[in-house]
Amino acid sequence: MANKLELTWYGKEDKLKIEPRLLIENPELSNCKNDPETDNMLIHGDNLLALKALEKDYQGKIKCIYIDPPYNTGSAFEHYDDNLEHSQWLNLMRPRLELLYKLLKEDGSIWISIDDDEQAYLKVLCDEIFGRQNFVNSVIWEKKYSPQNDARWLSDNHDFILVYAKNKSLWKPNLLPRTKEMNARYKNPDNDPRGDWKPGDLSVRTYNAACDFSITTPSGRVVNPPAGRCWRTTKEKFEEMVEDNRIWFGPKGDSVPSVKRFLTDVKQGITSMTIWKYTEVGHNQDARKEVKKFNSESVFATPKPEKLMEKIIKLASNEGDLVLDSFLGSGTTIAVAQKMKRKYIGVEMGNHVFTHCKPRQDLVISGKDDGGVSKQCNWNGGGAYKFYELAPTLIEKDEFDEYVINPEYDSNMLAAAVALNEGFKYEPDEDVFWKQAKGNEDSYLYTTTRHITEEYLSSIESMMDEKEYLVIACKSFDANLNSAYKNISLKKIPQLLLEKCEFGKDNYNLNIVNPPIIEEYDEEEIDE
Ligand SMILES: C[S@@+](CC[C@H](N)C(=O)[O-])C[C@H]1O[C@@H](n2cnc3c(N)ncnc32)[C@H](O)[C@@H]1O
Repeated sequence: MANKLELTWYGKEDKLKIEPRLLIENPELSNCKNDPETDNMLIHGDNLLALKALEKDYQGKIKCIYIDPPYNTGSAFEHYDDNLEHSQWLNLMRPRLELLYKLLKEDGSIWISIDDDEQAYLKVLCDEIFGRQNFVNSVIWEKKYSPQNDARWLSDNHDFILVYAKNKSLWKPNLLPRTKEMNARYKNPDNDPRGDWKPGDLSVRTYNAACDFSITTPSGRVVNPPAGRCWRTTKEKFEEMVEDNRIWFGPKGDSVPSVKRFLTDVKQGITSMTIWKYTEVGHNQDARKEVKKFNSESVFATPKPEKLMEKIIKLASNEGDLVLDSFLGSGTTIAVAQKMKRKYIGVEMGNHVFTHCKPRQDLVISGKDDGGVSKQCNWNGGGAYKFYELAPTLIEKDEFDEYVINPEYDSNMLAAAVALNEGFKYEPDEDVFWKQAKGNEDSYLYTTTRHITEEYLSSIESMMDEKEYLVIACKSFDANLNSAYKNISLKKIPQLLLEKCEFGKDNYNLNIVNPPIIEEYDEEEIDE
């Protein structure tokens, strides 16, 4: 411990044992007419439970994660002293980031919006979880464009976006498309068949005597390299370039020579820089206007602009890749992911999943959303998603304070939930009733609420191959039956599950869900 560099806080050592819940589709809220088999998900519920629910199927599968967690800006923690406040926030983030790390693909990346209040703590926490060597950069996003004159000290007009790769040696951000303004600098005054070009300096500062020679322009003027410099080529190479029409002497043939740099030779894209101006990716007010377009009655307080999400998704993924946002807010990430033809999973626990995320996504799918980045993406509608809720806890206490299986679970749900808890994949075999869920190689799990008798067990055993192994999760079984067959093990539910995780906890959000609704815009921002 003494040599370890780490951040500590109240509660860091407490390990949560999160119940892996089932995700239950609510077909009435799904929108999948265009694609009934869609894997896109909109999940309502606490993201810690939701991420745990996704862990088995999505481990190592997500190419791009974006999160915009509550920033810990004060009022949420009015009952605690300052130190505890930071600890609470870190306790909120840590288990979620640990699960997000597991979900990331080996060549994937995570982008986290944060402001000055917690960014330094978040950076150290993320170094611990993702590895300091996988830190890519912190992007600065210019979120406001005018000073807030009532700010007591400085008027804060930027957020950070911390970027980590799962494995920096494998992750490669995409290049951004060249802008029209950049390409406009290339022209073709001499109708060169190789296309547009722009003049580049023929001289360099690193002196080389072999490259220091006089050049006679077509008009007969003699030019030498500027003082202390030389040409970038030898005389022979220069003459070859003149022959190949790669040297420009100006329209009248009497200018200092320059090298023609062809547009077709430049890298077909640009590397992103780390300061992102509002002129390129939008600002807070843009984002609020975008949200107002699909819900004018209750404007979401802290949305991000679609252009900001577009840039992140463009850099971090390609068409068909899976994008995840587990603090979905007004639904910006999945709206943009849909327009950019990515697959997506969004998680939001607030009521605005119904008032904002769903209506927004439905509008996008209908093709009627012409705002945000619709034009840039040539978006005309399409796509689909399924809406999920978290299943209730599997085990609860009855009136005698005994642990019992939640009566809301029918036999299929129970089998699926026990399989998830035990790390088996629930895929019932159509012909063999006890092959309900599959584990490694030839192992199976069978869950039943019945009492297992010797006769029943021997009938199952007679159907099994020698190399097969079966775990039976049941309500009870005859005495001494557990050691009857070496390839069958009997376990009682709920005892089987109780030690593994904490049941009955419906949210781990520490009550710091952002107040999502604002009544009106900040006056100062509106005036501009
Ligand atoms: C800052 S907002 C995200 C805004 C979003 N980027 C957008 O463009 O609209 C944070 C969101 O996280 C949600 N949230 C907070 N704690 C959560 C939790 N434990 N599980 C799921 N969502 C949570 C809040 O309800 C809020 O909507």
